[in-house]
Amino acid sequence: MEAKITLLPGDGVGPEVVNAAVQVLETIASRNHHTFTFTEALFGIAGINATGEALPKDTLAACEDSDAILLGAVGGPAGSTPPGSPRPEAGLLGLRKHFGFFANLRPVKAYPMLIDYVPLKKELVDGVDILFVRELTGGIYFGTREEANEGNDHTSAHDTMLYTTPEVTRIGKIAFDAAQQREKTLVSVDKANVLASSRLWRTAIDTLHQDYPDISVEHALVDSFAMRLMTHPNDFDVVVTGNMFGDILSDQASVLAGSLGMLPSASLNAEKIGLYEPIHGSAPDIAGQGIANPTGTILSAAMLLRHSLGLENEAKQIEDAVEQALNNGARTGDISGDGERISTQEFTTEVINAL
Ligand code: NAD
Ligand code: IPM
Ligand code: MN
Repeated sequence: MEAKITLLPGDGVGPEVVNAAVQVLETIASRNHHTFTFTEALFGIAGINATGEALPKDTLAACEDSDAILLGAVGGPAGSTPPGSPRPEAGLLGLRKHFGFFANLRPVKAYPMLIDYVPLKKELVDGVDILFVRELTGGIYFGTREEANEGNDHTSAHDTMLYTTPEVTRIGKIAFDAAQQREKTLVSVDKANVLASSRLWRTAIDTLHQDYPDISVEHALVDSFAMRLMTHPNDFDVVVTGNMFGDILSDQASVLAGSLGMLPSASLNAEKIGLYEPIHGSAPDIAGQGIANPTGTILSAAMLLRHSLGLENEAKQIEDAVEQALNNGARTGDISGDGERISTQEFTTEVINAL
């Protein structure tokens, strides 16, 4: 197969982890006789510094001309861009919105060999395997917003949480379909005891449930769900939720996997092209040291092969190789406790050797 993949390494550890995933993809390509063409484009702070925009036009054009997009992370400490510049994160939101990547899949697995690094009781975490289905192009991220400015005396600001029934139904279908392939249970997380948009969310999920009588559905309030996610993580299989709750809960759930650096994601629309990125950010505290955990990005590359290129076997090869490398004792600093820690490159080489 021939495929064009646009790389958006972005900021902080982004280039370090994308470099790792590209090495893995190149190995997969040569082993399986595929040709992947990689085009790197400016994004985030690099985009702002070169063009004034976090998502430059040439970058968008490169993405449009590709089969899939692999992204590192954006963002950085204050002062990384000239005063008055756009926010690097706005480029990421713009990219998601432009392609209509409404469905963000964030799988969370507790790896048995990492359980000792999870700060929770082993027996609680053992066997955890959850799929978060996060709505990605609506909700409070994209509702009307007003900054504190001269017009309001710099003393007020607001963001609006808005959902429409079609938006909830669209993401709900992704979640119900996933539940049908998995354990046939779905938890829908909201804040319906306070928010009107959550009450609409609940009604839309209940209506959709009529088309999926074999799936058991639970509605959970986000506050107590956050608690149960830590006390009873094995109670959950597929979890569907809105944009902001999904953002927060997936970082929280990364604790179950041993580190934020472990978790991949896929952002999908109704077409084949997708956006693949680890769920972590630019990790400014460790950037430039070559010590970031590339697992989340390498597993995102596996999701890219599965969802955009239809290469299930190759995706599985990567997932198995990551597991093998971890079983062989490969550990970056975030998953090593007091044990031996290796660099991003050494870890990547371990994964490639296991392929
Ligand atoms: P972060 O995810 O960057 O880092 C949180 C903590 O996790 C840090 O201690 C970091 O060192 C650690 N960490 C993250 N990824 C790691 C990895 N691969 N290996 C080892 N340790 C890792 O969150 P933050 O510090 O709150 O945000 C930093 C910047 O990243 C902000 O500008 C934020 O907006 C941005 N951000 C971007 C994305 C994205 O591009 N998708 C996601 C989240 C945050
Ligand atoms: C994520 C990030 C982004 C989000 C930010 C950087 C816009 O935290 O992908 O989880 O909130 O969606
Ligand atoms: Mn996040």
